[in-house]
Amino acid sequence: MTFEDYTKPVKILVTGATGQVGSSIVQRSEDDSFFSVVGLGPKELDITSEEQIHEKLDLYLPDYVINCAGYNGVDAAQHEHERCYAVNTAGVDKLARACGDLSIPMVHISSDFVFDGHYESGYREDDEVSPLGVYGDSKWLGEEALRQVLPQHIILRVSWVFSETGNNFVTRTLERARSQLEIRAVSDRIGCPTAASDVARVVLAMLKQIHNGAEAWGTYHYCGGEVSNRYSFCKEIISLAMGYEELAMEKLTAVSASQYAKEVQRPGSSVLECKKLLNTFGIHQRPWRSDLSEVIRFHYNLRKQAVES
Ligand SMILES: NC(=O)c1ccc[n+]([C@@H]2O[C@H](COP(=O)([O-])OP(=O)(O)OC[C@H]3O[C@@H](n4cnc5c(N)ncnc54)[C@H](OP(=O)(O)O)[C@@H]3O)[C@@H](O)[C@H]2O)c1
Repeated sequence: MTFEDYTKPVKILVTGATGQVGSSIVQRSEDDSFFSVVGLGPKELDITSEEQIHEKLDLYLPDYVINCAGYNGVDAAQHEHERCYAVNTAGVDKLARACGDLSIPMVHISSDFVFDGHYESGYREDDEVSPLGVYGDSKWLGEEALRQVLPQHIILRVSWVFSETGNNFVTRTLERARSQLEIRAVSDRIGCPTAASDVARVVLAMLKQIHNGAEAWGTYHYCGGEVSNRYSFCKEIISLAMGYEELAMEKLTAVSASQYAKEVQRPGSSVLECKKLLNTFGIHQRPWRSDLSEVIRFHYNLRKQAVES
């Protein structure tokens, strides 16, 4: 390798780049001279299309592909099997095969929904999977396709991802608190909220080490530090939001998951044990509380800008 090879930025191609995690990875890597990033949203690269995948990989020839594209409608997936499997399983398979043809390693974001959530003390990477619905099943099969097709991969399972925009628990809670007098939140579902920006930090830190020679391919877990439940997380979101606006909501009520029926049962525990990531890469969990206050601040800055423009 020449000096230029060592100092050249590492080229990453991010799919699903308009989503929470994808846009955070693009943003973070743009500020890091180690990387040069191409972020492609679904309009530029639809991972269900082999033709588009080959076209974009040939055009950009990245050193790594980071797949953040996903179909995430947990309830809708029960009625939209085909679309869900097309993106989360077949799409991952197509992307992995194309990466394999060009010897491009791939990072893929997966989910705690591969587990049924009965195990409360934290899922390890090799714990038995048992998805509760179509979405979880499609994510598991996507993982399996990647494992079979491309040995040079990282699968990072994350849980309870939030950011300042898009459709996530934080933005949905704020919408409800603006329009409803009472909010009900489930207190017997536990998990660790995880900022999309934090997932980006972890993915890029892993890639730096991989690029510098760490032979650490495989499956890892990551979630924010401190176990919470939906009710407590909701309470924290509301209490931070009250510093920025007057909310319509007057009452927050804790309910059990059985009282808050959703079409698809969610894992009772989404807690992921992150020791493998720490032991292999030295990456620590970041407390989600500090990320949440930043996310709420960004959210209100964006609202202010939208009103002013
Ligand atoms: N959100 C969570 O709590 C959570 C938890 C665990 C794991 N994950 C996993 O993390 C990954 C990223 O999630 P996220 O929260 O960033 O989701 P997100 O905000 O919904 O982003 C997903 C992105 O994928 C795009 N997409 C959908 N179909 C596509 C296709 N056929 N080709 C290319 N792009 C496509 C979406 O575009 P459109 O918006 O236009 O459809 C969106 O830009 C997903 O794989 C998800 O399963 C998320």
